[in-house]
Amino acid sequence: IDSGYDCWLGYKRIADSALRESYAQYGSRFVVIGGEGDGDENGEGLGASSLLRTAGKELELALSSMLGSVTRERVSGAGMVVAGTFGSSSAFESLAGAYEPAELGEEGYVIHSSEEDGCIYLSAASERGVLYAVFHFIRLLQTDQQLEGLRIQEVPRNGLRMINHWDNMDGSVERGYAGNSIFYRDGRFIEDKSRIRDYARLLASAAINAISINNVNVHRQESKLITDEFLPDVAEVAGIFREYGVRLFLSVNYASTIEIGCLDTADPLDSGVAEWWKQAAADIYRYIPDFGGFVVKADSEFRPGPFTYGRNHADGANMLADALAPFGGEVIWRCFVYNCLQDWRDRKTDRARAAYDHFMPLDGQFRDNVMLQIKNGPMDFQVREPVSPLFGGLTKTNHLLELQIAQEYTGQQRHLCYLVPQWKEVYDFDTYASGAGSTVAEIASGRLFGRARGGIAAVSNIGDDLNWCGHVLAQANWYGYARLAWNPDLSAEQIASEWIRMTFGRDEELERIVLDMLLGSYSIYESYTAPLGVGWMVNPNHHYGPNVDGYEYSKWGTYHYADRLGMGVDRTVRTGTGYAGQYHAPVAERYESLADCPDELLLFFHHVPYLHVLHSGKTVIQHIYDTHFSGAEQAAELLAKWDTLASRVDSGRFEHVRERLAHQAEHACEWRDMINTYFYRKSGVADEQGRTIY
Ligand code: GCU
Repeated sequence: IDSGYDCWLGYKRIADSALRESYAQYGSRFVVIGGEGDGDENGEGLGASSLLRTAGKELELALSSMLGSVTRERVSGAGMVVAGTFGSSSAFESLAGAYEPAELGEEGYVIHSSEEDGCIYLSAASERGVLYAVFHFIRLLQTDQQLEGLRIQEVPRNGLRMINHWDNMDGSVERGYAGNSIFYRDGRFIEDKSRIRDYARLLASAAINAISINNVNVHRQESKLITDEFLPDVAEVAGIFREYGVRLFLSVNYASTIEIGCLDTADPLDSGVAEWWKQAAADIYRYIPDFGGFVVKADSEFRPGPFTYGRNHADGANMLADALAPFGGEVIWRCFVYNCLQDWRDRKTDRARAAYDHFMPLDGQFRDNVMLQIKNGPMDFQVREPVSPLFGGLTKTNHLLELQIAQEYTGQQRHLCYLVPQWKEVYDFDTYASGAGSTVAEIASGRLFGRARGGIAAVSNIGDDLNWCGHVLAQANWYGYARLAWNPDLSAEQIASEWIRMTFGRDEELERIVLDMLLGSYSIYESYTAPLGVGWMVNPNHHYGPNVDGYEYSKWGTYHYADRLGMGVDRTVRTGTGYAGQYHAPVAERYESLADCPDELLLFFHHVPYLHVLHSGKTVIQHIYDTHFSGAEQAAELLAKWDTLASRVDSGRFEHVRERLAHQAEHACEWRDMINTYFYRKSGVADEQGRTIY
């Protein structure tokens, strides 16, 4: 039974013999040049040759599995796959004129098929680039691409492409929907690290280059990860990731000086505190010379931070940055800072405003090795939110875009919700910060404002379930996140097609149907859950399932303000919280104006009567009814579509997905009925079509 453990790296034998033979012209022999034998058994030459060893192992595995057999050569010759760094061999001289190594940077690569010697060259300025070239080449085979005349040059658009794990050392995963942690159990690291290695391989296959391995909410035990008690384990894990080109980061407790040190303060301007962190950094780098740095959630949701001492976030981040700087480490400082104890009577306080209000005044005050990590939206990974105005606001501070692959608010990996279309909207959003074309993609990468650092991070959706993601089709989110991080111009469809072929093999009918399911799923999920950008109508705490007023009468500041007359949050400058004014023109005007605000965000920015007419021509209340009826219908169709694939998918994965889709279809009805009944009773307006509303 296929559990889905191999994800997109299953490397099935290519069934079409003509295709297999055409690939074998190149792929029956290969050589990896450089690094061979320069062992790092003694910890010497960190990472250098181990990356090429990884590349060689992967080529061997992929070619032998897909083509039937492969020979590994020791020197290059005609008619083979030749992988290596430019400088390592004269074999790459023929490429010298065609590519500019300097443009490839640390991670770029070329894939070149030479008509002269019948070789395919996988080459780069760095060993990491070679590893990525190898995985790209394998992908060409997995997706039936022609190998003749290849002239590929790839350079990542984002420097940092990171995954954040919210894993706790007791083995649980905060917002985890795929079992327990692959790193920890019962307060310690898991003894058998083989699964971590398999995971590192998946990361490298999609060119993820950084990982943080513990929850941003750093509890007591996890605070000790930076001490001698756990650093040997952390170093072992870092060593595994290193072989795959992935740098390891830790989330740290801002109040470590108190929690695990013997100080009575965590004041960032206290010299004892700064000294403590310098010592801590020195200890960490003794174990892990290429340690990435710290991820910090401070002054957020009851986590400690510099506010306690009357200091600001630049003070806090810079103090840690100074400790890491001598070793080349970085501080990733999260901007998820807001007052989570709000009074509903106070209509001026707005959680959406908080990150901008806190961080904009500090723009330009952060050290070069600090990156601010900003969630895509101003609230918290809702199905639909506007883009955080910090993108386009900050111009003098390095920052990262934070996405959530974990489907906390988007179906918890029980519902199908392919998130790449949502992320594409975020990347493509034009902030107009420096005229038209100032997209989030250009800003997060650091390019628009000439920042030295930038990139993307996302909350992981994996756990120790056999298929990693709880839902086999949720693997597409993981994969899609990584592919977009490399190149945000890829389309949601391209990524999905690629993933389907690599995951399920060659089958046009299957590809057509799964593609259709994936591409429609985000909008289907949105339609039976969150109307018009309202968000938060979920059960408190676990965030699964409908509960319209679940948060309405709590203090978290996540209101919809539905009453008998209307609903939505007035965030205009004229009469509301002023949030709309945090954007540049013309975006600010578009959101401010009831007439121009896009339908899908209407209730995020405006409080309107139920009979307000949308651009679509429907009233708000009718829109709610219609989308909930059609969303539930479409959820049922997802199941019907999958059922047509019974003979095309192995029974293990087929039955597993089927069970999830059946649950989704049923649960979508619950959403439909709860939401429709609630708003029918609130508004007293009947459905125009007279459908059943309980
Ligand atoms: C959300 C999520 C929390 C998480 C927090 C964060 O609020 O529900 O579990 O800790 O985001 O991003 O820090």
